[in-house]
Amino acid sequence: MLEIKNLSKSFHENKVLDHINLKIEKGDVVGIIGPSGTGKSTLLRCINQLEIPEEGEAVFGGKTVDLSKKHKDSLEFRKSTGMVFQRFYLFEKKTALENVMEGLMVVQKKSKADAKAIALKELERVGMASWANHYPKHLSGGQQQRVAIARALALKPELLLLDEPTSALDPELVGEVLETIKNVAAEGHTMLLVSHEMNFVRHVANKVIFLDGGHVVEYGTPKEVFTNPQNERTKEFLRKMQLLNEPEYVI
Ligand SMILES: Nc1ncnc2c1ncn2[C@@H]1O[C@H](COP(=O)(O)OP(=O)(O)O)[C@@H](O)[C@H]1O
Ligand SMILES: [Mg+2]
Repeated sequence: MLEIKNLSKSFHENKVLDHINLKIEKGDVVGIIGPSGTGKSTLLRCINQLEIPEEGEAVFGGKTVDLSKKHKDSLEFRKSTGMVFQRFYLFEKKTALENVMEGLMVVQKKSKADAKAIALKELERVGMASWANHYPKHLSGGQQQRVAIARALALKPELLLLDEPTSALDPELVGEVLETIKNVAAEGHTMLLVSHEMNFVRHVANKVIFLDGGHVVEYGTPKEVFTNPQNERTKEFLRKMQLLNEPEYVI
């Protein structure tokens, strides 16, 4: 469905992504894990064209799009992706409903009535319909993130990009957002999910990528990556996250 080829991005001398190649099938939930500062956000931002890489192509819907240039094809591709950020970036002066309606009216040029109907449906999907007329400041972080997910889904993206969607939340609010993401994944949405919630990634993803030093160091099913990683760096990362329970001694 989507292939990313030779994606490279530097910030000055700092080569953050070094010829990344990825293949995503329709319905895949790809978990992206890796140490802080390793380029996970940059990868999503390059796919969503919030950053322009030096090099890189996306093959999508039979078309090859050069991500290193902004042009009509890349805009089309960008419109088929939706992004959910760590911080939700809702408009403070708009209600939950208006936040979801905004993109539908501005980007997709829907009428107000159509946008409202779609937005309400999306809010319902994330369990936020009864909060439709509330402003962000009256919503908890978890509720705001659910509105942000509804806003992304409202535009019917073919690929949903989620960048640490729960890491700005108080611990007691993480569960409701993970539950929402799990439901969205179960509906068959294709997504790339960057998360430090390893148990969640393991549970919800069907493919996992371990990114380190600008490279895809490990790629496989959650079972392969979490229980039988091949690369020493993956092992070390999982050990640090206390996910690789190796025996301390062998009898
Ligand atoms: N706009 C930017 N300008 C300069 N350096 C950046 C910028 N964005 C990210 N970086 C650097 O790129 C590296 C990867 O960052 P990031 O993609 O945010 O990592 P991660 O999401 O894995 O924590 C870091 O060293 C970071 O400091
Ligand atoms: Mg990040």
